[in-house]
Amino acid sequence: MTPLIESEGLTKTFGATPVLKGVNFSVAPGEFVCVWGPSGAGKSTLLHLLGLMTPPDGGTLRLFGEEASTLSAKKAAEMRNRKIGFLFQFHHLLPDFSVLENVMIPLFLRGESKTDARRQALPILERLGLGHRLSHRPAETSGGEQQRTALARALVVEPALVLADEPTGNLDRENGGKVEDLLEEGVRARGAALVLVTHNEALARRADRRLTLVDGRLI
Ligand SMILES: Nc1ncnc2c1ncn2[C@@H]1O[C@H](COP(=O)(O)OP(=O)(O)OP(=O)(O)O)[C@@H](O)[C@H]1O
Ligand SMILES: [Mg+2]
Repeated sequence: MTPLIESEGLTKTFGATPVLKGVNFSVAPGEFVCVWGPSGAGKSTLLHLLGLMTPPDGGTLRLFGEEASTLSAKKAAEMRNRKIGFLFQFHHLLPDFSVLENVMIPLFLRGESKTDARRQALPILERLGLGHRLSHRPAETSGGEQQRTALARALVVEPALVLADEPTGNLDRENGGKVEDLLEEGVRARGAALVLVTHNEALARRADRRLTLVDGRLI
């Protein structure tokens, strides 16, 4: 089976600080991989590289069997929108749009009509317990509701690969647990892959593999 992610010698330096010093990484379809590491180790940087949001300085990155580190910005955005769901460390919802609209946006970006986007966004929001918050702006919802909206936005296009950056770091245990369950279920049920950065031990134990980012390398 072709790996969804294959990276070799991936590097990233900010200014004079090398953050990633040669990351070798492979993820198969259906896998749930957890990435650990101390604060500042480069976990978010790595996810941004894998999600084609930041280009690497060196090394190779293949996503879905395609060379991805040399894609044009346009092609990278296309691949991201078609195949990757990203759940940020901080949710990054668009403040001027409603909960429902935030979840419809990835579908608009794929060229779907308003009616089709709505038809797909509604059930996932209902399932995440947000059916009564559809027309609220993110700022008018709770932290847990915002994180669940971000989860709905990441999963609504049924991405082959979900990248999640400590999605529950700033939630209480109950809301955090709910988002984690839904994330794992949502990904596993479809046989998609999940790469998750977390400090939460209980969550990490549920992963198929745990990797640690130390000194710019994954071990
Ligand atoms: N855009 C940037 N410009 C300069 N330095 C950056 C940039 N992004 C990250 N860094 C630096 O790279 C290092 C790794 O940052 P990163 O956000 O990847 O860490 P992290 O492992 O996700 O940490 P945390 O667990 O606190 O979220 C940090 O020292 C940070 O200051
Ligand atoms: Mg981080």
